Amino acid sequence: MSYDTILEIGKRRGIVYPSFEIYGGLAGFIDYGPVGSRIKNNLQEVLRRQYIVSEGCMEVECPTVSPEPVWVASGHVKSFADITTECLKCGEPYRADHLVAQKANIRTEGMSISDLAKAIDEYRITCPKCGGKLENPYTFNLMFQTHVGPGRNKVTAYLRPETAQTTYLPFKRLFETARRKLPFGVLQIGRSYRNEISPRQVMIRLREFLQAEIQYFLDPATKNDPVNLPQEAKKNISIRTKKDDVVEKTIEQALNEGIITCPLIAYHLALALRFFTDVGIDPSKLSLRQHRDDERAFYSSDTWDVEYLSPSIGRIELVGISDRGDYDLTQHINVSKQDLSVNIDGRKFVPHVLEVAYGVDRPIYCLLESCLRPADKEGRDYEWFAFPPAVAPYRAGVFALQKKDNLPEKAREVFELLKNAGLYVYSDESGSIGRRYARADEIGVPYAVTIDYDSLKDGTVTVRDRDTKQQRRVSISELPALLK
Ligand code: GAP
Repeated sequence: MSYDTILEIGKRRGIVYPSFEIYGGLAGFIDYGPVGSRIKNNLQEVLRRQYIVSEGCMEVECPTVSPEPVWVASGHVKSFADITTECLKCGEPYRADHLVAQKANIRTEGMSISDLAKAIDEYRITCPKCGGKLENPYTFNLMFQTHVGPGRNKVTAYLRPETAQTTYLPFKRLFETARRKLPFGVLQIGRSYRNEISPRQVMIRLREFLQAEIQYFLDPATKNDPVNLPQEAKKNISIRTKKDDVVEKTIEQALNEGIITCPLIAYHLALALRFFTDVGIDPSKLSLRQHRDDERAFYSSDTWDVEYLSPSIGRIELVGISDRGDYDLTQHINVSKQDLSVNIDGRKFVPHVLEVAYGVDRPIYCLLESCLRPADKEGRDYEWFAFPPAVAPYRAGVFALQKKDNLPEKAREVFELLKNAGLYVYSDESGSIGRRYARADEIGVPYAVTIDYDSLKDGTVTVRDRDTKQQRRVSISELPALLK
C-alpha cells in the first residue's frame, strides 16, 4: 500500500493528520488524533516497561527550551547544520547534498559547500519543482532559536534538537540517585525540534517530534566487558557494516567476529529488535546498519541503527545506538566549569555514555504499515489494523446487540465493570452489530464484547477475536481478567 494511502487511512480514522489544517498546514508538524494518541501512549508504555521495569533505568523529564551555552558545549551551535540551496524562482529549499546525490547519482557525504556548488554547476542541476536556477549553497543550522524574557536582558535559547543533552546536565544529581555507582541508565521521553530543510514525508522527517532516548553512564574500564545477550541476538538479520558490506548473520555472531566491537551495542541492538517486534513492526523488514566514518555524528565514535525497509518509502532509521564516549560530559565540564567527573574506589574519571536514541513517530508509521490488512473476500470489505493488544487504541469495544429489551443497560453495566478494572474500553451503540465490528477492526481493536439476550439470562457475553473473527462465550465475571 502506498504512503499516501496509509496516511489517508490514518487521517480518516483519527490516527494522525497534518497540524494547522484550517490554516493551510505547516510542513513538518502532525497531530495525533484520538486513536493515534492512544497508540502512541501505548507504545511509550511498552518502551517504559522494557527500559524502566526490565532494564532498571530511571526516568527524567527536562525542559525543551535550553540556554545557548548548553548547545555551544554540545557542539550543536557550530555543527548541527545542513548545506542548503534554494530555487531563485519559486523559493523551494533543498538539502544540497540530497539533491545532488539524487540528480547526479553520486555519493555526497562529506562534500563541502564549494564541492556541492561545483556539482550543481557541473551536472546542471535545477529546481526539481519549477526548473529554476538554484542559489549558491549555504550552511543552515537546524536548531530553532528563541529568546527567554524581554528587553536587554533576554537570554538566547534554543528548542532542543535532542533530549540527550538535557539528560546530561543534571548528571551529578542522577549519580547521587544511583547511589554513586556506575553503570546506570536514564530514559527521557520528550519532544525535540529540528528545523528540517524539506520535510516532505510527514511522519518521517518532522520539525517537532517525540524522542525516547536512554543514556547509559558507564565506567570506561568496564564498558567493553562481556554481557549476556538477549534471545533476539540469536536470530539471523541483515547487517550493513561501515564499509558498506552486507552480511546476513546473528548479532551474536557479528559480535564474536568483531563486526560489532562493543558487547553493549550488540545487547542494545537486540533489545531494540525486541521492542519493535513487541509493538507490532514486521521483524522481517528490520535490519542493522553501522554508520560510515564520513556520516557519523560529531559526538560519536561508533553508531549503529536499526532500520525498517518500508515497501512504500524505503529505508527508515528507527533508533540510533551510539558510543558517545566522554565527549558530552567533558564538553559540559569545559563550558560550565563544573566538575562532572566521578570518584569511584579512588579512581577519578569522566563517565562514558552509550546512547540508545529512539524516535517515536517513525515507529508509529512502520507499525501502521506493518499492521494494515487489506480488505478480504470473507466478509471484510474494508482495510483493518492487526495491532497487538499492547498498542491497540482500546482493549475492547462493548456492544449491545439491540437497542432495546434492557440490552443497552446490561452493556453499560459490562462497560463500567471493564472500565473500573482499569481497561481502556469504549462503547458503540450506533449501526448494526456488523458495522460496529467493522469500525472496531478499522482502528485495530483486538476484541469486541457483545451483550445479547443470553447475557440477560446466564450472565455470559460473546467475545469476538478481531484476527480470527471467531466468537466465544465468556462469563461476565471472567471478562476483566481475560481481557487483561
Ligand atoms: N541523541 C541522538 C539523536 O538525536 P538521531 O539519530 O538524530 O540521534 C534519534 O535521532 C532518532 O530520532 C532517529 O532514529 C529517529 O527515529 C528520530 N528522529 C530524528 N530526526 C527526526 C525527524 N526529523 N523526524 C522524526 N523523527 C526523527
